[in-house]
Amino acid sequence: MSIDWRIDFHPSVSSTQKILKEKALSGEQEGYAVHALEQTQGYGRHGRVWSSETGNLYLSILLQPNCTAQKAAQLSFVIAIAVHETLYSYLMSSYEKPILKWPNDVLFAGKKCAGILLESDLAQAGHVNWLAVGIGINIKHSPSDVGVAMHSYMQEGLDIDVEGFRDSLLKNIERYYDLWRERGFEGISQDWQDRAHPVGAHASVKIDTHILSGFFAGIDDMGNMKLKDEQGNLRTISAGDVHFPSKGKT
Ligand code: BTN
Repeated sequence: MSIDWRIDFHPSVSSTQKILKEKALSGEQEGYAVHALEQTQGYGRHGRVWSSETGNLYLSILLQPNCTAQKAAQLSFVIAIAVHETLYSYLMSSYEKPILKWPNDVLFAGKKCAGILLESDLAQAGHVNWLAVGIGINIKHSPSDVGVAMHSYMQEGLDIDVEGFRDSLLKNIERYYDLWRERGFEGISQDWQDRAHPVGAHASVKIDTHILSGFFAGIDDMGNMKLKDEQGNLRTISAGDVHFPSKGKT
């Protein structure tokens, strides 16, 4: 099913996410998207500030997957795969692929190069009215030393056409969204795993103040992370901050 993307483009906004949610509440439908060159109040998960200088991609898209909130949360994997695919297609061939970190971070050389935020509007019975998907990609700037700017690894370097990049991302989102709609999580879980840290990699998960250590054991059929502890017990993680110590800071 093709999506009729309608891009609302702005040189500068408070937050593409805020604008998108206002429009969704006033009746905008799936395919509406807000793209800005800079944001003055960009935000990420847990309300963290998302530093938003000119030169990166700041995009929010409206999806209406017609399903429960629990199922809609799987779309963060769909978006992460599409971001990965798009970034990889722009990289110079000598560089390694980016890596997806559960649940939806995109890393390059061990550092975060993109962030994905899902916010939903719920109807009754846990059904989702709409989903505001915010995507920030560090193209020319990285907000801090835990992030990486991608331009120096990209074929077009600083001359990158951000609108072309956005359109290619939207095509990839559509492709994996379709797969997910047709075949459910099963349709995309291997695509995610193929781009993620390898099964068996050392991992630790911070849940509130508690840290669990062990080995990454992939994801289950709902998208939860599986962690095998030192004793060989399998834990299912539905939320938490994951750290893979082997490849630089994550
Ligand atoms: C994260 O915490 O990793 C998610 C960051 C999401 C940032 C994007 S940039 C476009 C959209 N507008 C916002 O204010 N936030 C999201």
